[in-house]
Amino acid sequence: MAKVLPAYKIQLHFSKTFLLFSQDIPSQNLGFVNPKLVTLDLNIAGKDYVIHQSPTILHRPGSTTGAVVWKITPLVADWLAASGNPLWTSNILSSSSAVLELGCGISGLVGLVLAPSVGRYTLTDQSYVARLVEKNIDENSPLRNSKQTGTTSQKRKGKSSNVQAKANLQFLPLDWELDEVTPALTGSDQVKSFDLVIACDCIYNDALIQPLVQTCADACKLRSIDKNDAERPTVCLVAQQLRDPEIFEGWIKEFSKYFRVWRVPDKALSEELRTNPGFVVHLGILQNAPEMRHQS
Ligand SMILES: C[S@@+](CC[C@H](N)C(=O)[O-])C[C@H]1O[C@@H](n2cnc3c(N)ncnc32)[C@H](O)[C@@H]1O
Repeated sequence: MAKVLPAYKIQLHFSKTFLLFSQDIPSQNLGFVNPKLVTLDLNIAGKDYVIHQSPTILHRPGSTTGAVVWKITPLVADWLAASGNPLWTSNILSSSSAVLELGCGISGLVGLVLAPSVGRYTLTDQSYVARLVEKNIDENSPLRNSKQTGTTSQKRKGKSSNVQAKANLQFLPLDWELDEVTPALTGSDQVKSFDLVIACDCIYNDALIQPLVQTCADACKLRSIDKNDAERPTVCLVAQQLRDPEIFEGWIKEFSKYFRVWRVPDKALSEELRTNPGFVVHLGILQNAPEMRHQS
């Protein structure tokens, strides 16, 4: 059944889990782009990116899945970059939006693609990704590209606007199990909450479901203390690869405790991001959720 997301006129589906897993889902292996390469050349929305990743860190003991790029992330970046994307046409995203990404991994790709079009973009993950994500931000930012082309005056003019474009993209460590979500994550004294919270391929482990969902809820709840924007709820976008139905079921049950949940219909997604070949995108808006963990 199609339903309209309140405050944003966007047609979505209430989520129906059994339909998702009742169709043939092609194998995507584990879902890495290529876990053996130390650099990936990617073209997103017509722009080239060279992303450094680390097969060595991936194979370290412990949870280091973000050391390499996962397939869904370039697809989400490409989908969000399109001007006809429903998040742009419904004004969930605009040139002044503040965006928070959870579990971004080493690439920072969605931030690299979106940051030039929004007000500010904060990438977060555990601190082991910091060195590579900062290298990827640095080497793929418009500032670096502007050093390579253009006349001196173009370079100077380009430099100041590109410094600004680069300044609105930052990485901050945020561990869902250890860290508190605060307005400082926006990186600005003037901005106290986010318009959009994004998580790409962060649902794959039962033990992480509760802390991830709690972090999503805490991040969206910042809006309720932000007097400037209180009527526009923060939207939480969760994009995932369809793997284990039990993990998915566990996540949607937990997510639905805090959020009203909609599934983005296939026709509003790019062909590559649909349920066949095996991906799904949900949007959530906080309902009257249990108290935030850090306020009790
Ligand atoms: C499958 S990877 C996806 C990485 C990236 N979003 C992508 O699609 O390429 C899952 C991400 O969740 C992050 N993650 C796992 N547990 C976390 C935690 N407790 N706090 C913050 N991030 C965590 C990992 O570090 C990793 O970057």
